Amino acid sequence: MTTEAQEVLQQAEALRAAADKAAAGVDDASGLQAWRVEFLGRKSALNALSKGLGSVPEADRPAAGKALNDLRAKLEATYQELERRLHAAAEAGPAPPRDVTLPGAPAAVGTLHPITQTYYEIAAFFTQLGFAVAHGPEVEDDFHNFSALNFPPEHPSRDTQDTLYLAGDWLLRTHTSPVQIRVMLEQEPPLRVIVPGRCARADAVDASHYPVFHQVEGLLVDEAVSLADLKGTLAAFAEYLFGAGTKIRFIPDYFPFTEPSADLSISCVMCGGEGCGPCGGTGWLEIAGAGMVHPNVFRNVGYDAEKWVGYAFGMGIERIAMLKYGIDDIRLFYENNFDFLKQF
Ligand code: DAH
Repeated sequence: MTTEAQEVLQQAEALRAAADKAAAGVDDASGLQAWRVEFLGRKSALNALSKGLGSVPEADRPAAGKALNDLRAKLEATYQELERRLHAAAEAGPAPPRDVTLPGAPAAVGTLHPITQTYYEIAAFFTQLGFAVAHGPEVEDDFHNFSALNFPPEHPSRDTQDTLYLAGDWLLRTHTSPVQIRVMLEQEPPLRVIVPGRCARADAVDASHYPVFHQVEGLLVDEAVSLADLKGTLAAFAEYLFGAGTKIRFIPDYFPFTEPSADLSISCVMCGGEGCGPCGGTGWLEIAGAGMVHPNVFRNVGYDAEKWVGYAFGMGIERIAMLKYGIDDIRLFYENNFDFLKQF
């Protein structure tokens, strides 16, 4: 096809688009009249195009002519449709006045995510005991996440906390414990802080594991602190969170940054300690790791390890929320399922 003919087709197409766009804005008789003059009138672009047909080489003239005829038919149909609509609107009369006294549509009010709610509950307990809230970065370095916490390089205790390693020394933190280091490097004892935050581990997804999860860390450093203080505080915490009569149990465990170290369990909230499916028949549910701060950790932050004593603990917020609310699959927290979320 010759360029002249192509030109005609392109202009016809542009004209059709412009006419449609202008038609959408026609809402009264004078607008309709103006539209007609512009697109179908004697001086319309369509007429100009038709007059120029003579310069299109003869072979292409029928095709170009047909395109212009089609366009004219389409514009006339549009005109008629606009006229019919204006007419119908005039018949229907003015819209009834809006009744501004009718009640409005209720706004959908959001709620806090159950993870956030559970964290606020945990925080309320510890802040009443004088714990401040500290935060740290989700992208950490080896020093804060591991070595300052007394994980020697190549030590097998690192294997339980595999994560995404980034360029250089950077990694996604595997726990909130590195913030213990950050706080102690900045503040002199005595101190007490809790640390909420997101953590990451190279865990396969199942009903109780997710590669991204949340923890609350606790750290208290002072002069005369003992394991009894830690145990008493966590016993009161367990009753606060899970109700009066909730019992706790410490069993020995290993963490490089505490000595001695323990796992904290509560009496099973489902069976009251009798033994059931969720507690694996033991009557106990593990909710946190805890222990007395290892002197090496104090040395790594420049504290006098002869003078200062401390305790620390760390718990998974998802785990606690699941036990509190009877949620059986951790994935529910992250799916943005409205039916799930609106129950909280
Ligand atoms: N950081 C440990 C973990 O993620 C949990 C933990 C255990 C934190 C003992 C502590 C602690 O502060 O004392 O597995």
